[in-house]
Amino acid sequence: MNKIPANVAPPAGPCCLVIFGASGDLTHRLLVPALYNLAAGGLLPDAFAIIGVARREMSNDAFRSDLAQALRRFAIRGIDERIIGRLLARATYVNGDADDPSTYERLDRELAQVERACATGGNRLFYLATSPSAFAPISRHLGRSSVAREEDGAWRRLIIEKPFGTDLASAQALNRELLGLLEEHQIYRIDHYLGKETVQNILVLRFANGLFEPIWNRDHIDHVQITVAETLTVGRRGRFYDATGALRDMVPNHLFQLFSLVAMEPPSRFEAHAVRSEKAEALDAVHVPSEADALRDSVRAQYVAARVGDNEVEDYRRTADVSPDSTTETYVALKLMIDNWRWAGVPFYLRTGKALKSKRTEVAIKFKQAPFAMFRDTPVDRLAQNFLVISIQPDECIGLQFSAKVPGPVIAISGVGMTFKYQDYFDAAPSTGYETLIYDCMIGDAILFQRADGVEAGWRVVQPFLDAWRGAGPNGLALYEAGSEGPNEADQLLARDGRRWRPIARPGAVS
Ligand code: BG6
Repeated sequence: MNKIPANVAPPAGPCCLVIFGASGDLTHRLLVPALYNLAAGGLLPDAFAIIGVARREMSNDAFRSDLAQALRRFAIRGIDERIIGRLLARATYVNGDADDPSTYERLDRELAQVERACATGGNRLFYLATSPSAFAPISRHLGRSSVAREEDGAWRRLIIEKPFGTDLASAQALNRELLGLLEEHQIYRIDHYLGKETVQNILVLRFANGLFEPIWNRDHIDHVQITVAETLTVGRRGRFYDATGALRDMVPNHLFQLFSLVAMEPPSRFEAHAVRSEKAEALDAVHVPSEADALRDSVRAQYVAARVGDNEVEDYRRTADVSPDSTTETYVALKLMIDNWRWAGVPFYLRTGKALKSKRTEVAIKFKQAPFAMFRDTPVDRLAQNFLVISIQPDECIGLQFSAKVPGPVIAISGVGMTFKYQDYFDAAPSTGYETLIYDCMIGDAILFQRADGVEAGWRVVQPFLDAWRGAGPNGLALYEAGSEGPNEADQLLARDGRRWRPIARPGAVS
């Protein structure tokens, strides 16, 4: 079969990208490879420049060779030295502390020079690839100076990484602060899950097909399972992770992106305002549980030592920079209900955890069982379950499970499946997921970014669980072995409702 090539787009318009945190991990691992891929795909404008800002003292040349090294290490495609050369020739460096006003004076001078030399038209994209504690100070300095002020037809945009706040109050405070300095249309809150093609495709699957939407409701859907399972341990991220935990790290952002795309009403237009309004609305409709209900409908757990394959994984509590009596969860499972007509009575079960048996991100929609009556007097003892499985990663596919007759003289039924695999149809070059996001920001399309209300709606759902857990202290923290399917308590969360999680580790992506 001839594969469908990735679609093409024109290069973005002239601009200068200013990266704060330019010597950090995110810049090295993801931003530079993504910029390279954009350059290789012809999506960067000729009038383009990069200014790196970080604390370390570095010459322009040292900065360029630092980026080149990062690229050689983290590129996800074969690299062409000519493209690297062209890309990095436009990179310069400003050193300074994020909270020091003189950094911004130097940046201002550098911008003036670069804009003259590269004809970037005054369009500026500020990327905050820093630790979250620097988000507010940088925004404050940018917002108060003229550096980020939109004037003379030039745009000024700010990409802000996660975590956006650590609870509802801090997310609201950060939004208030940002919106006091910049306009909402200048702020691009990133969630890298929205850079994944398989995540973006949920919108298309639901709304570009006549097939699914008529049955996408409580009349036909029994429940929804959203799983983001990782085999990774906390590793060297102990300091960040122990203060954060699985709930904050994954749920209000990545899992809620999946959740809101599945639960939202059809937007009236494929554009940022309409799509983001419907997503926020879906989160807003989630039932806010009492403290007792939050404890009943959630499971938090921590991994303990086990041998996984050839490796010994140690207790989470023995991880470097993790408190030896930490009660931080490395696994969370939640049951959420949505108070609206489409979803009343349909549970959404969400789970995510580290050090699990398999890496798997999927949305599984379980349809209601067909009535069994017709088969009562036959050898058939049960019907197969109908699941629509949207597999996000590492397998990129969508599968549908249904019942089929087993060939032969007597009636017998077996579960079978149909699977669509992206790789069978599409010929897309590998990407980091950041390419689309950076490109979209350059062209001013915010559809894949979070709006203030969406972020706050997510924290509003999570907050009762955070409060209830804080109240419960160490009580209720479950344990699971590294390399397992997760804690038994998570199984009980569904067993209570007569349901079961789909196994995380299984032979097929959508089996
Ligand atoms: C990050 C979290 O936002 O997402 C990490 O901080 C997590 O803890 C990662 O591992 C998962 O992203 P992905 O794309 O690998 O599923």
